Amino acid sequence: MNILILGSGGRESAFAWKISQSSHCDKLIIAPGNGGTGKYGTNICIGINDFDAVRKLVIAENIGLVVVGPEEPLVNGIHDFFLADKSIAHIPVIGPKKEGAMLEGSKDFSKQFMERHGIPAAASKSFTAKELQEGLAYLSAHALPIVLKADGLAAGKGVVICSDVASAQEELKLMLGGKFGAAGATVVVEEFLDGIELSVFILTDGAHYVVLPEAKDYKKIGLADTGPNTGGMGSVSPISFADDVFLAKVEERIIKPTINGLKKEGIDYTGFIFFGLIKVGEEPFLIEYNARMGDPETESVIPRIESDLVELFLSAVNKDLNNFKLKVSEKTAATIMIVAGGYPGAYEKGKVISGIENLRQSYAFHAGTLLDNEVVKSNGGRVIAITSLQDDLFFALQAATADAGRIYFDGKFFREDIGFDLI
Ligand code: AMP
Ligand code: GLY
Repeated sequence: MNILILGSGGRESAFAWKISQSSHCDKLIIAPGNGGTGKYGTNICIGINDFDAVRKLVIAENIGLVVVGPEEPLVNGIHDFFLADKSIAHIPVIGPKKEGAMLEGSKDFSKQFMERHGIPAAASKSFTAKELQEGLAYLSAHALPIVLKADGLAAGKGVVICSDVASAQEELKLMLGGKFGAAGATVVVEEFLDGIELSVFILTDGAHYVVLPEAKDYKKIGLADTGPNTGGMGSVSPISFADDVFLAKVEERIIKPTINGLKKEGIDYTGFIFFGLIKVGEEPFLIEYNARMGDPETESVIPRIESDLVELFLSAVNKDLNNFKLKVSEKTAATIMIVAGGYPGAYEKGKVISGIENLRQSYAFHAGTLLDNEVVKSNGGRVIAITSLQDDLFFALQAATADAGRIYFDGKFFREDIGFDLI
């Protein structure tokens, strides 16, 4: 079967690497892909939100399965677009329809969904511009710190944690005043949870699910988790603090009620659900849902999956995930993201990248790269994810760090402390 992956990041590189190994995959197309995905298939340069171009591509290339990487096309309704068009309605899409993608696309919707289904989460209240005065009063009486979240997609920047009332009130005014455009038309004000974060993933067919390996993502730019937030500077899987007892709580209290909630509300969902969790004491709380896999978590999770990924996807399409036995490696994966100098602020692109062929014990999952006359150049903030799969976390980190050091481009930076807090 011919398969299309939509997206261009490290996550899509990891998908492409894995899918290209499947005996079910004849031709693999990555749209638009990046400077590394051409090794696994054919890059075709179209925009992920240009649904007409996607339709033309799937027809021309006789695509039999579409895997959507990022959230934006899902929230914009790419799955619904396929179903509404007779010429492509029969082509299965891995990724929820618009309604299911609301779990990520609207924090207000997702918080209400958690509440309706008794899922443990931070207490919260939502405000619109009309309710500004009420919101300001609410903030003045709230315990600190306090978390403000723009309701809609804000490129990972829509969450602000405030440690005093005045700055929280100022932030609420800014958000409701249009700081994040329409995404901030509603603001969720939420209790701050103090704990350690982790990411748990499932693939669901709407009725059943398969739990994928869990991972921890390192979000801050600086050593020891300091400085501004990024898209993610590295990840590890598995994680020592998520033992079987804790993961069983996650399944009983969070995963099962979510699947049952979707069923109850008639939301038909085929795709990934990413549970952004926080462990407070020994108890799991849900911070957010995403309607896709995490990046850079995918770069750690996928190398641990020994099963055929296309078989997993086809099982989801056929709604028989209850019969799928996922094979997972006991080994530990560590991913280190190499980023451009200046990231997450302003950074330069077009730097020549050398040394990728010198990696000894890792995979290089390209993210923000492109090929310019056969020369690999940087083309984004997060440039290349280096993943090593080894017998334990220490060896995985050591190998990934050494291999990250073998890659060079002007201004390159990576964190040398990813995962060492867990050893
Ligand atoms: P989100 O976009 O909802 O994942 O939020 C981004 C980040 O903000 C999370 O990864 C957490 O680090 C932090 N965060 C969000 N909500 C809370 C909360 N209620 N308590 C503490 N930290 C939070
Ligand atoms: N690594 C967090 C995310 O993908 O949203």
